[in-house]
Amino acid sequence: MKQTLLFLFILFLFSGCTKTKEAGPYFGNGFHNGWADQNSIVIWTRLTKNPELNLAGEKFLVPSAKDHRRLDAEANPDSIFNAQIPQGFTLDQMEGACPGIKGEVRMIYYPLNQPDSRVETEWSAVDPGKNFTHQWKIVNLNADTKYVVELEARRNKKSGVTARIEGAFRTPPESASRSDLNFCIVTCHDYSRRDDPENGHKMYKAMLRMFPDFFVHTGDIEYYDKPAPYALTEELMRFKWDRIFALPYQRDFYKQVTTYWMKDDHDALTNDAYPGMKYGTVSWERGLEIFDKEQFPSNDKPYKTVRWGKDLQIWMVEGRNFRSKNDDPDGPAKTIWGSEQKEWLFRTMKESDATFKLLITPDPILGPDRDNKGDNYANKEFSYEGNQIREFLNQFDNVYICNGDRHWQYVTNLPGTNLWEFSTGAGSDKHAEGWNQEDVRPEHRFLRVKGGFLKGSVYQAENKSWLKLEHCDVDGNVVHEELFTR
Ligand SMILES: [Fe+2]
Repeated sequence: MKQTLLFLFILFLFSGCTKTKEAGPYFGNGFHNGWADQNSIVIWTRLTKNPELNLAGEKFLVPSAKDHRRLDAEANPDSIFNAQIPQGFTLDQMEGACPGIKGEVRMIYYPLNQPDSRVETEWSAVDPGKNFTHQWKIVNLNADTKYVVELEARRNKKSGVTARIEGAFRTPPESASRSDLNFCIVTCHDYSRRDDPENGHKMYKAMLRMFPDFFVHTGDIEYYDKPAPYALTEELMRFKWDRIFALPYQRDFYKQVTTYWMKDDHDALTNDAYPGMKYGTVSWERGLEIFDKEQFPSNDKPYKTVRWGKDLQIWMVEGRNFRSKNDDPDGPAKTIWGSEQKEWLFRTMKESDATFKLLITPDPILGPDRDNKGDNYANKEFSYEGNQIREFLNQFDNVYICNGDRHWQYVTNLPGTNLWEFSTGAGSDKHAEGWNQEDVRPEHRFLRVKGGFLKGSVYQAENKSWLKLEHCDVDGNVVHEELFTR
């Protein structure tokens, strides 16, 4: 009798497992964190119908450049759909699809070395109006602490838990505390130009091996205006986020590393985007909302400064929301950052007593950039405000600019100034372009038209503080280093 009961019990357990495994919802997009400081962080997640993206799905049709322009101008959702999805197929059947699904989520978190101090949230429904996502803002955290995060999913009250996922983040040390740190900064990648077809971008694997204390993505995390598909509707924009966030390397990295997300033109709306523009059926306002309020951890303001201990402070600036039109006449009224953000940056940078100050920006400030570009402070179209900012930064001898956007790696040190700029370079070799490798200018200390990322370390040696900034290739090999001490 005992044996029969045991057998039935084991059968019950197994049938339960099988049932929940088939049923979902799942965490196909893992979870992301954002905006971490000493006491708070935001956690974002999304529920998915399947545990993985549909890599074997149907391929998108690619309209010609002329048709792309027409579809953009006409803004007809049916024409946009029919030009890119083969007849008889739904979007969920296309390559890379990772559709969302209704359900509930809850979060458990605790300091790694104090599992007894666990906090468990109530169950919350994901929001189908926001692509089946949910966000929590956690407050009252301890500084300089590694936290474990566990998420659970269920279909509804009766279904039981259908998926579990675990990850971590760490909070920054206080301004008085001195500790060795390392971090990574990247820019520009998309699903189509990933360098490992099954897993995503190789650099994420390389960066994870370095155990970065934090990570900054400077934007162009996806490209709405590149084919397969051209994301000319909100539905297609979401499709692209669902797909890239389901790539295993990306998913594995983001759930374990304290992350700061920034946006640029291609993930706000379209190439060189500014207020008032639209892309297909999507307005400028919706483009910002999808990034700032739905697909990424949200914050009141889209910019932030965070102290990472005694030796380091980082500033992450917003380069799209407040800008003038690129073709407005240059002068005192023309802006990229807007007056409020600029005043905040100037004030907080002056007030800071951090040993090293990193200004992390989606777009370059020093360049050099191509002559035919007119979208950033390194271009003549924004030289009035660009000069004002360069003059401000030049009063410091401990500020280092780290920029995204440009698809090549460089270190610029403008001769006769304190101005340094480190361009992280694109996220894969096939994404690298835009500058001629032979065109080395006097201000270039390093130039490499290849993919990779920027690695930074802050540490103590010989009774001094050091900042090391290293360019790495996509496999994590160091290709250039600059060392600063104070
Ligand atoms: Fe880009």
